[in-house]
Amino acid sequence: MNILCLASYEKGHEFLREAKRQGCGVLLLTSLSLQGKADWPLESIDEIFYMPDEDHAWNRADTIKAVSYLARTRAIDRIVALDDFDVEMAAALREHLRLPGMGETTVRHFRDKLAMRMKARENGLNVPDFVHVLNHGALARFMERTPAPWVLKPRSMAGAIGIKKIHRAEELWPALELLGDMQSFYLLEQFVPGDIFHVDSIVSEKQVVFAIASGYGRPPMEVSHGGGIFTTSILERESDDALRLVAENERAMAALGMVRGVSHTEFIKARADGRIHFLETSARVGGAHIVDLVEAATGLNLWAEWAKVEVAGEDGGYRPPVPNRDYAALLISLARQQHPDTSAYNDAEIVWRMVQDHHAGLLLKSPSAARIRELLSAYEPRFTKDFYAYEPPRDKPSH
Ligand SMILES: Nc1ncnc2c1ncn2[C@@H]1O[C@H](COP(=O)(O)OP(=O)(O)O)[C@@H](O)[C@H]1O
Ligand SMILES: [Mg+2]
Repeated sequence: MNILCLASYEKGHEFLREAKRQGCGVLLLTSLSLQGKADWPLESIDEIFYMPDEDHAWNRADTIKAVSYLARTRAIDRIVALDDFDVEMAAALREHLRLPGMGETTVRHFRDKLAMRMKARENGLNVPDFVHVLNHGALARFMERTPAPWVLKPRSMAGAIGIKKIHRAEELWPALELLGDMQSFYLLEQFVPGDIFHVDSIVSEKQVVFAIASGYGRPPMEVSHGGGIFTTSILERESDDALRLVAENERAMAALGMVRGVSHTEFIKARADGRIHFLETSARVGGAHIVDLVEAATGLNLWAEWAKVEVAGEDGGYRPPVPNRDYAALLISLARQQHPDTSAYNDAEIVWRMVQDHHAGLLLKSPSAARIRELLSAYEPRFTKDFYAYEPPRDKPSH
């Protein structure tokens, strides 16, 4: 079996390695702008091809021709998108080559925040009230019926990029004016104050076969816009929150038509009434080292499991390994220092340290959820003092 992997950014080394271990021919199609810069696991890749790109974006028509050209002499059995920004291109290629896997209609529910909300709501999931930024009369009516504040957000971005909080109707119109012809690529939705959670799951032939719920310390938007330390930790597996989130995730996957692969799905638990709202989903692994968080707690590497799911394909023969039941947490901060020194943090629970300029990060693991909570609450203020630096929000992905 030959798998063609699309990666406009450097991602998914463990997927490529596992696909090779599974005996696949591994083809990688990536951006020309990464040539000589990315550190791909070349021992696990049979052939690597570069597409000319503009700021990592695929030229759709050229890519369809290029992959069809490759397919003259190579039997391509699967196409997999390793990054969020590759999901649509992979779907278009599958449809063109008539390959199994999710097509364009389905993947839209995993990329377009408007499409996923509409589909989720149609299927009875609870979502923050929303409206497409399209008809100005409809927007005015939305703001009359839905209490402020609202968030104006791009339909297909990540990392809280481009999200703007709107407090009064008069603030919306100039914001739309600035967006000009791009406004229809946005939606406006009710801001629901509460805690933000994520469920990371593996889906095989439309069945959620593995899922784990975690909670962000502070809402990601507060961290990326206001600053502060990013934390997330695995919830106690039998807690009411965890059980409800895992159940909501199953409903979301069924509603949105996830066929196979991995998903990172986010929810808000409203502070007002404790109700869980579907926030967003994706057909990929979570960013910000969430793969490492899940691996520390369960022993499962989501990239590798995803490769196995793809190889098993429509036979549905995939079974996840029995997960460990440890607890884990991630703690990541922008750092004032170029090479922050975390050696003073030396508890035995630290299983990984981030090595990235101007970042300090730790991954903690313990059989005890209470111990993880205790360490997190001790480390957060220490991190703030030792490393924390504020950087204004970005308007472009940094990867
Ligand atoms: N309707 C909302 N109510 C409250 N907070 C929200 C809402 N929408 C977004 N946010 C905040 O913005 C963050 C990013 O929004 P999200 O829809 O998850 O987009 P992204 O793809 O950028 O992660 C969320 O984690 C949350 O902190
Ligand atoms: Mg999000």
